[in-house]
Amino acid sequence: MVIGIPTEIKPDERRVALTPAGAAAFAHHGHRVIVQSGAGAGSGFSDRDYRAAGARIAESAAAVWSGAAMILKVKEPQPAEYRYLRPDLILFTYLHLAADRRLTRELTRRRVSALGYETVQLEDGSLPLLAPMSEVAGRLAVQVGGWCLQAQNGGDGVLLSGAPGVRPGKVTIIGGGIAGLNACRVAAGVGAEVTILDVHPPRLRYLSDILGGQAITVMSNRATLEEEVRAADLVIGAVLVPGARAPRLISARTVAKMKRGAALVDLSIDQGGVSETSRPTTHRRPIYIRGGVVHYCVTNMPGVVPHTSTYALTNATLSYALEIADHGLLDAGARNRALRHGLNVHDGKIAHPAVAESLRMKAASPWN
Ligand SMILES: NC(=O)c1ccc[n+]([C@@H]2O[C@H](COP(=O)([O-])OP(=O)(O)OC[C@H]3O[C@@H](n4cnc5c(N)ncnc54)[C@H](O)[C@@H]3O)[C@@H](O)[C@H]2O)c1
Repeated sequence: MVIGIPTEIKPDERRVALTPAGAAAFAHHGHRVIVQSGAGAGSGFSDRDYRAAGARIAESAAAVWSGAAMILKVKEPQPAEYRYLRPDLILFTYLHLAADRRLTRELTRRRVSALGYETVQLEDGSLPLLAPMSEVAGRLAVQVGGWCLQAQNGGDGVLLSGAPGVRPGKVTIIGGGIAGLNACRVAAGVGAEVTILDVHPPRLRYLSDILGGQAITVMSNRATLEEEVRAADLVIGAVLVPGARAPRLISARTVAKMKRGAALVDLSIDQGGVSETSRPTTHRRPIYIRGGVVHYCVTNMPGVVPHTSTYALTNATLSYALEIADHGLLDAGARNRALRHGLNVHDGKIAHPAVAESLRMKAASPWN
């Protein structure tokens, strides 16, 4: 199979979908890789590195898209890329379709076979291709949240670690999954006072066990959530209902009751956001203030730490992409149930039930 790696064009996205070592793995399996010139530059890989790994370099995005049977990307196709979508194409990337009707329409209309990294799911319910980016984004959330709290950004001027003789900042994390736990580790590590909320009792038990005294675990419901959000300097939204739009857990009224200059880092923005007041932002203009609260809602946070993120992402995606290349999409899905969950659009129809439900459409899987 011919695999194409275009340069990411989402604003300030510097990750790339495949490392040179990944390209070498495809070559070893008898496949061909076309990489757009400069695609790896933001992550520290030159065209020469890819050539040495057996890949061919193409000058234009059009040459990569048209020459490949499967496109590996990081972020969802941007409007300028829609024209490359075609019926026989396999697209494997983050999609987040539940929050994106326009892209869903393009993918169905153009009959692309589109797999979303974020819905590939193992038997135990875990999401192996979302996990590495959630780990990075969760850790980064505390770093950017601390920056939002700085006075020049409109923040309340609290240093999360506090200082000798001065109380630390209070961090409330909503959703104790992968991103939430990673945010919790970093926040507790700098000395902040951390509360983590979740709705899943076994998860709360697990968090309580492994975090020991580092954080307080709280069952999430309307009352506890409001109380913890209002008391926080920094709120981190990290909930996920796989494939579905994020539940809107924080109302505009609650935001108005938060501390003036508090910060909300809404990681769940890629699934629509946990707050009524959240709207997507970019790395170029990452924050805005609403109700006196500094909002940070960047949908591709790991893109600013491309070196770490590209390695973390490709470590996880490579084996799945190789399986598709080796066996073709339908056979790979028949062999690998986790990959089957990854299929979001096929043959003009929505293939993932939660995505279909979020968009009030019908799901139809090629494996049923
Ligand atoms: N913005 C970014 O750049 C970026 C990067 C990576 C991940 N993310 C997003 O971060 C979010 C979290 O991802 P994850 O991998 O940690 O997911 P996860 O599945 O590991 O964890 C989600 C947690 O949310 C909990 N939850 C569900 N409903 C809840 C509710 N009503 N109240 C409290 N908790 C609730 C679940 O029990 C689960 O523990 C996702 O939306 C993901 O797409 C964003």
